[in-house]
Amino acid sequence: MIERTFAMIKPDSVVRGLIGEIIQRLERKGLKIVGMKMIQISEGQADRLYEVHKEKPFFKELVSFIRSAPVVVLAIEGESAVSVMRRIIGATDSKEAMPGTVRGDLSCSKSMNAIHASDSPENAKRELSIFFTESEMLRYSRLDESWVC
Ligand code: CMP
Repeated sequence: MIERTFAMIKPDSVVRGLIGEIIQRLERKGLKIVGMKMIQISEGQADRLYEVHKEKPFFKELVSFIRSAPVVVLAIEGESAVSVMRRIIGATDSKEAMPGTVRGDLSCSKSMNAIHASDSPENAKRELSIFFTESEMLRYSRLDESWVC
């Protein structure tokens, strides 16, 4: 089933010059980028994105990190996009993420872990709505769509 998901290239990747490398991996997998913005995330957006972690001891550090430099927010479409993206990015703790995944190859930290992707279709919908209006998610066909899945 074609799904939409949300992803965010985190500040550590932006300041390390890894935006292109990460986006290339998503495109080569056959995922379609239907929305993309480079932004400085606001306190309100960070609060909403991480609301499930509000009571966790690392919440303050998490919000401070995510606001420490720009991020790239992405709306991504593709066959089973939610689970495919989670597999591409790898385990939350980059030290444990498998080689071949974004985190496994490019990062070594649990907090500065390169990229975020929604963990369920429900969260994808909620997280997309924090950063994109419906009209900001664009419609087009990739030339290779019938060859990828
Ligand atoms: P992500 O899953 O993208 O979104 C929530 C983030 O919280 C997660 O990535 C980690 O970067 C961060 N996180 C989760 N657990 C911890 C922890 N124990 N200490 C610090 N950061 C954490």
